[in-house]
Amino acid sequence: MTQSYPNTRLRRTRATGWSRNLHRENVLTPADLIWPLFVTEGSSVEEPITSLLGVSRWSVDGIVARAKEAVDLGIPVVALFPNTQADRRSDDGAEAHNPDNLMCRAIRAIKQECGDDIGVLTDVALDPYTSHGQDGLLNADGYVVNDDTVAVLVDQALNQAEAGADIIAPSDMMDGRVHAIRMALEMGGHTNVQIMSYAAKYASAFYGPFRDAVGSGGLLKGDKKSYQMDPANGLEALREVEMDIAEGADSVMVKPGLAYLDIVRAVKDRFDVPVFAYQVSGEYAMIEAAAAAGAGDRDALVLETLMAFKRAGCSGVLTYHAPLAARLLNG
Ligand code: PBG
Repeated sequence: MTQSYPNTRLRRTRATGWSRNLHRENVLTPADLIWPLFVTEGSSVEEPITSLLGVSRWSVDGIVARAKEAVDLGIPVVALFPNTQADRRSDDGAEAHNPDNLMCRAIRAIKQECGDDIGVLTDVALDPYTSHGQDGLLNADGYVVNDDTVAVLVDQALNQAEAGADIIAPSDMMDGRVHAIRMALEMGGHTNVQIMSYAAKYASAFYGPFRDAVGSGGLLKGDKKSYQMDPANGLEALREVEMDIAEGADSVMVKPGLAYLDIVRAVKDRFDVPVFAYQVSGEYAMIEAAAAAGAGDRDALVLETLMAFKRAGCSGVLTYHAPLAARLLNG
């Protein structure tokens, strides 16, 4: 084939470091990262999570220390997930709206120590509190009922906001919950508390280590396919996002991350809202396993995958690698 533009050499701008720096289209900084943290009871407790090598659950004092570490690293937000004591889990997940539950104690402790130096994002869903591990309330057939669940999620969200949460992140995938939570926040005077909805959350095999971390994995019977999305669907994700924006979401999330970058891009192209992705526990574990097997360089894999989220259109990424990535980026 004859070359019709003989002087075009795309390698020209790649030839030197300074030129690559000049032509880089996307940047990744610690400010793009949200660090998920697991909270457990006690004091001075660190419990390593076996399926999430390198990640631990921390008691509230340790969580505060991690939040301070995040501030020092330039990470703007931590996301909290509780490992609720077994005897506080119940069919209705009532511990979710106990003002003194583990989450609320962690939120208050971080806010007392760090104030507005850091944002606290809290997950709204019942799975860390239910004895059956599902995100909502079950009817006699074991089906997760929508509207009654939404009513409980509203109480959970208000409980978190009253403890000082800055971003409420409903991860339950019930219909109509963003609107219900927004209304309750407004009426409760929490007008500046944001909602980042898990808008397109898929029924994924990548959540396994997370379920170990919050202790819901062993309890879960069946799957979450009656509320989380079918991995085969893309257009439906756009409808989910459209609905959550209409209901008052300030930002939306796609989850998992790497296997769903096409969804991130489609959402970003269609809607003028900040989009986030969750690089979930199974993705973290995959990178760690590859590094441990000598199949790739951990630092490079981490930064490359995080940059992929930026390129796909993300404003930021939830990742368990946040402190490592921030350290690398800070040089
Ligand atoms: C709970 C929730 C899950 C995750 C975040 N919030 C698990 C699930 O839906 O079963 C997964 C996060 C991860 O795997 O890192 N609703």
